Amino acid sequence: MSLNIKIILASVREGRFGDKPAEWITTIAKEKEELLVEMLDLREYSLPIFQEGVSPAGIKGEYRTPEINRWAKKIAEADAFIVVTPEYNHGYPSSLKNNIDYLYKEWNDKPVCFVSYGATGGARVIQQLRQVSTELQMAPIRNSVHIMSPWFLTETDGTLKAGALDVYTKPAQNMVTQLIWWAKALKNAREQ
Ligand SMILES: Cc1cc2nc3c(=O)[nH]c(=O)nc-3n(C[C@H](O)[C@H](O)[C@H](O)COP(=O)(O)O)c2cc1C
Repeated sequence: MSLNIKIILASVREGRFGDKPAEWITTIAKEKEELLVEMLDLREYSLPIFQEGVSPAGIKGEYRTPEINRWAKKIAEADAFIVVTPEYNHGYPSSLKNNIDYLYKEWNDKPVCFVSYGATGGARVIQQLRQVSTELQMAPIRNSVHIMSPWFLTETDGTLKAGALDVYTKPAQNMVTQLIWWAKALKNAREQ
C-alpha cells in the first residue's frame, strides 16, 4: 500500500532552526519505499490570521479563498503527518495553529507524529499538539522525537554541525515505522 506522508515545517521565523530537522526527517522518511513524502513549509502556505465567519467543521465543500483551498488540497491528499515544530513560550507557534484551524475534515481520521526541539526537546509543545489533534479527530501516535537545545547544534553560519542529529536517527526511524502502521490501519478504515 502506498502512503502519502506530509512533513509540516511549522517555524516561519527568519533564521529558523526548523528547516534542518525538517530536511533530516524527510530524508529518513524517504528511506521507506512505500512512502510518498512531501515537505510543506508553512512559509509557502502562509494564511492570514483566522477570521473566517464559518467554522471549518461546518464546511463540506470548497473554502472561501484559493489560498485556503490550496492548503486544504495538500492536507486532504495526506495519509499521515509529521509535524516539525519549535516550542514558543511553552506552546505551539501561532503559524502552526493558524494553519491547523483553517481546516477540519482534511485532518480527520489520520495519524500524526512530532519532531520538536527546545530546552526540553519541545516536550511541552508536543503535549499541547496531542490535545489539539485529538479534537481534530486525528490519532497522535506514541513515539516522537525531541531534539534538545538546538542552539548548540549549529555552526556560526547557521548550518547544522556534522552528525548533530545522529543520536536521534534510531528514534526517528522507530517513529516512522509506528506512523506507517497507523497510516495503513486508518487508510483501510477510511476506505471502507
Ligand atoms: C518567541 C519564542 C519563544 C520561545 N520559547 C521557548 C520555550 O518556551 N521553550 C524553549 O525550549 N525554547 C523557546 N524558545 C527558543 C527556541 O527553542 C529556539 O529559538 C528555536 O531555535 C526556535 O525554533 P525556530 O528557530 O525553528 O523558530 C523560544 C524562541 C522564540 C523565538
